[in-house]
Amino acid sequence: MDKLVIEGGKPLSGTIVIQGAKNAALPILAASLLAEGTTTIDHVPNLLDIDVMLNILRELGCRAEHTGGTVVLNTETAHTSHVPESLMRQMRSSIFLMGPLLARFGETQVYQPGGCAIGERKIDLHLQGLQALGAEIEELGNRIICRAEKLRGADIHLSFPSVGATENIMMAAALAEGRTTISNAAREPEIQDLQCFLNAMGAKIMGAGTDTITIDGVQSLTPCRYKVIPDRIVAGTIMVAAAATRGQVTLQNTKPAHLSSLIHVLRRAGVQIVVDGDIIKVGNATRPKAVERIVTSPYPAFPTDLQSQVMVLLTLADGVSILKETIFEGRLKHVDELSRMGADIRVDMNAAIIRGVPRLYGATVEATDLRAGAALVIAGLAAQGKTVVEQIHHIDRGYDRIETMLSRLGARISRYLPVPNN
Ligand code: UD1
Repeated sequence: MDKLVIEGGKPLSGTIVIQGAKNAALPILAASLLAEGTTTIDHVPNLLDIDVMLNILRELGCRAEHTGGTVVLNTETAHTSHVPESLMRQMRSSIFLMGPLLARFGETQVYQPGGCAIGERKIDLHLQGLQALGAEIEELGNRIICRAEKLRGADIHLSFPSVGATENIMMAAALAEGRTTISNAAREPEIQDLQCFLNAMGAKIMGAGTDTITIDGVQSLTPCRYKVIPDRIVAGTIMVAAAATRGQVTLQNTKPAHLSSLIHVLRRAGVQIVVDGDIIKVGNATRPKAVERIVTSPYPAFPTDLQSQVMVLLTLADGVSILKETIFEGRLKHVDELSRMGADIRVDMNAAIIRGVPRLYGATVEATDLRAGAALVIAGLAAQGKTVVEQIHHIDRGYDRIETMLSRLGARISRYLPVPNN
């Protein structure tokens, strides 16, 4: 398995252009199935999760090419709506295919994407939403068969604003007969991006970004060309890395409005942030201040996907901070790894109580999931001495060559490939 080796203690400095958003690109790729023909999507990052989604689309019969950040996807040749279990298991986001496949083929067969390192991650809201649109769902062990001769618009209230369920329902409802209303919908920017993409294909969707989304079903959709929004979580990761290493970094191609909860937290920690159009400048020369209480919650509140990265900054802060995780029950696994680097963190239920220390020390640590892995990289950059981060395939799911990105900002970081034994 590849590893990252980091010589810490060097402030990050320079300018970086932020990649396209994984969490916007994945549902958009799935939604392309709704229109027969060739769709072109720009600003698609080079990531393991994107490779998995493109492999699934190829398995369904589509033709897909990903070069220089652009995906050209011909969905005309798609001939099956059955997603193989081995591919479903590689990525939870494969569940996004249910809505589009059901709308296009009238039936789909998928598998439970299973639990994952950060928690149980149920799909009941996805299934209830599709059922409300008229789908019959049969669960045979891990296998889920979903059929609907005709999808019909419905009023759907989500008991929790699930991002994936909101997106799945939007995609299925785009081709349903009549009006669908989703209340208590998730409000994440990636949902607005999906709405813009579907509308560019001819859908009639309003309200994404608010908690009520209205979808007036249309008969058919037409392929289009579309550019994915910048990745707010990658931008946030770099912002925290700049602050934790007491560096000066300029981020280009950002949407600062999507990062307002992080900007607020970083400013409370004493980090200097200047916003100018789509540019964010982050600078920090002194020890960060503790932040009394941060709670992860659905957008626009503080994102769970930045919880582990911000925790690293707080381990170095002056004072005691509390960081509470409310979205995923298993998302504090990085605490043990950070403790091995000298952090002083106590976990009480779903809250981490972080007593800042003057410095972290390099160690060999293991990425337990995507964002926890990014957090350990930040810790390694800020720490004194050498850090080895193992299990970095998790990081490759969401960051396009993280070591290249950080090296450009002056970090001493390299990837080591396993030596073949023969
Ligand atoms: C998306 C993001 C992920 C982010 C998460 C929360 C993508 C590809 N991934 O994941 O990076 O961490 O939003 O912001 O966009 N839940 C149920 N039943 C369901 C669906 C969800 O109980 O049917 C629960 C989950 O177990 C979890 C919570 O709702 O506790 C949030 O999940 P959800 O918003 O659906 O996250 P994802 O769409 O999986």
